Amino acid sequence: MEISKTLTTTPKEKPAAETLGFGKYFTDHMFMMDYAEGKGWHNARIVPFGPIALHPASTVLHYGSEIFEGLKAYRRADGKVQLFRPIENIRRMNNSAERMCLPPIPEDMALEALTEFVKTEQEWTPSAPGTSLYLRPFMFGNDESLGVHAVHNATYVIIASPVGSYYKEGINPVKIMIETEDVRAVRGGTGEAKCGGNYAASNRAGKRAEEKGYSQVLWLDGVHRKYIEEVGAMNVMFKIKGEIITPALSGSILPGITRKSIIEVLKGKGYTVSERLLSIDELTAAMADGTLEEAWGCGTAAVVSPIGELAYNGEKYPVNGGEIGPVTQMLYDTLTGIQWGKIDDPYGWTVQL
Ligand code: PLP
Ligand code: COI
Repeated sequence: MEISKTLTTTPKEKPAAETLGFGKYFTDHMFMMDYAEGKGWHNARIVPFGPIALHPASTVLHYGSEIFEGLKAYRRADGKVQLFRPIENIRRMNNSAERMCLPPIPEDMALEALTEFVKTEQEWTPSAPGTSLYLRPFMFGNDESLGVHAVHNATYVIIASPVGSYYKEGINPVKIMIETEDVRAVRGGTGEAKCGGNYAASNRAGKRAEEKGYSQVLWLDGVHRKYIEEVGAMNVMFKIKGEIITPALSGSILPGITRKSIIEVLKGKGYTVSERLLSIDELTAAMADGTLEEAWGCGTAAVVSPIGELAYNGEKYPVNGGEIGPVTQMLYDTLTGIQWGKIDDPYGWTVQL
């Protein structure tokens, strides 16, 4: 694959580690590639970071054909930069593309684009503890006409942002409100795909929760309004009477790569992990009788995010006394240890540049 490179003549100053936050700063370049039916993916290029001009009738602006991914590049203590399971993100992106009638990208091409881009921007990978270079590949339908149909033209872009921790609380426990009005996704819908519209539709509940002093919502399924699905934009796990429970991938849940990795780590350490239905009744009973031992969200941005309080229908239930629990802490230490190259990676998950 040929990737043309036009480097910036005005490189930016890199932000100080303590100001990073999440997704506020961007590197000097971006990767772009175009798709046209009959021609396939073409014109792969690394160009200076900047605005993208779109035809006012571009599909994405009207019908929301957009998918994205999120993964990180980590600076190891020896100065090298590594990625965490990038092929999993590429496969998930192609599954999202299939759902949204966008053109898939051959895996080897997508991996080459990603690694070439990260090599170009690697200096932007910060080294302070807890920081990384967040990579955001995204694809959108880009036909210049208002007809509603599967697209014939698309654009693929990768941008990168040096980041600190996702939540301002860092690894500290967050307060979560169980959402009883809006739903995030239904089976047969787009919950399994990482498409922009899912996030647009979930913002109303997120905003209401924030107004009440909660960080995010816990989503219930859209049909029975009874089974736990995800927390905010993360997968969710609970430890009840020693069993670690996470909702099964039923078609409305995003198959998280952190989720998948945690399940492997837990099983390897001999924990009982169940991917199954967990009803709100079972959860509230465990909260009421104190058998809910730990709860956490998991995703690339926050890695593991302990839940310190759950609120349901006006009742507040502290989890593990509002403190981070031992399994949550162990998972955070293990995953971040592998990601930053501080401990061995027995799974072969990391890919050094
Ligand atoms: N669920 C949703 C809705 C997400 O947006 C994400 C983030 O990508 C996840 C779960 C976690 O997925 P991953 O662990 O691959 O980041
Ligand atoms: C995650 O990485 O867990 C996310 O959900 C990313 C988010 C910014 C969409």
